[in-house]
Amino acid sequence: MASMRILGTGSYVPPKVLTNYDLVKMGLDTSHEWIVQRTGISERRMADPDVATSDLACEASVKALDMAGMSPQDIDLIILATITPDTCCPAGANWLQAKLEADQAVTFDVTAACSGFIFALNVAEQYLKAGTYRYILVAAAEVMTRTVNWKDRATCILWGDGAGAAVVTWADSGPEILSTHTHTDGKNGQDLLLPGGGSKTTPISHESVDKGLHYLTMIEANQSFRVAVRHFVESIKEAVSSNGLTVEDVDWFIPHQANLRMFHSIAKSLKIPMEKFYVTIHKYGNISGASCAIALDEAVRDGSIKKGHLVCMPVFGGGLTWGSALIRWE
Ligand code: UT7
Repeated sequence: MASMRILGTGSYVPPKVLTNYDLVKMGLDTSHEWIVQRTGISERRMADPDVATSDLACEASVKALDMAGMSPQDIDLIILATITPDTCCPAGANWLQAKLEADQAVTFDVTAACSGFIFALNVAEQYLKAGTYRYILVAAAEVMTRTVNWKDRATCILWGDGAGAAVVTWADSGPEILSTHTHTDGKNGQDLLLPGGGSKTTPISHESVDKGLHYLTMIEANQSFRVAVRHFVESIKEAVSSNGLTVEDVDWFIPHQANLRMFHSIAKSLKIPMEKFYVTIHKYGNISGASCAIALDEAVRDGSIKKGHLVCMPVFGGGLTWGSALIRWE
């Protein structure tokens, strides 16, 4: 049956590694043990100062196109999920298009924070279903380390940089995206906030910088943790039940990589063995929307995902946003 199929996946993380010990050396009042115990993170990747989000996205996209056996000129639409675009205007996807020399492609960004990759896949699905575009490049890329306050130990330990990508089309063979689900709760979106540079605050000014409005802030992180787990659990249930399947049918869970303790809570709540979670947070931290796209690509390339496997990708992020993709790897 014709449906959204994955032709190729790709990912890229910058080579520079920032360990928990490096953070301690930078003078942060923390320890490797605390970070590992509370988050599961040992290290994260950090883009060099001259590297922008579209550079990371370009590397991941080239790999996805290569796996698909396609060139950038075959792509009709490029959707980039990011909250750290190179510039507010033009869109990050436009910079990516220029770097790929995919002049024929239409481009735009999707802003759904850590849920971005799944939201972008959901948008792609609508265009493919309608027959508007044939080949779509869905990328998710972030330079999160440029949004953090390195003096705020509660948040700066979490984030890293990187990109993931997938080429999708409407066809009747290949890895099948059985469903995508997306949800938003704008009323409660203020707990994960990057206020600076938007129209609500003064545009970038000495005052806004002095107030630290250009930093990503996390209010009530504890509360956010509980809300995230609830939405992860609901999203998994929604993904399987809408396809007439059960949680037990799933071979791999590839959630947004926010905190390893969340995986343990989800596993406990749904009685899922921890071995079914594909984990990258220990080495990359939280790369917002790119996290699950990178994990998917790594699981494909290292052979963890095999033919016939059912893969569930639940996500949760700022906004608030949450949802899932369910994929049968054929
Ligand atoms: O990707 C989007 C979704 N992500 C989220 O929604 C994030 C959800 N939240 C979390 O993952 C966790 O809440 C954090 C990892 C952010 C924090 O972990 P926690 O176990 O909730 O710690 P906490 O905020 O309750 O802080 C516990 C203690 C505090 O000290 P007191 O008040 O008990 O004396 C903090 O000041 O740990 C302290 N603390 C730290 N200590 C050492 C906070 N950060 C650190 C740190 N190193 N880096």
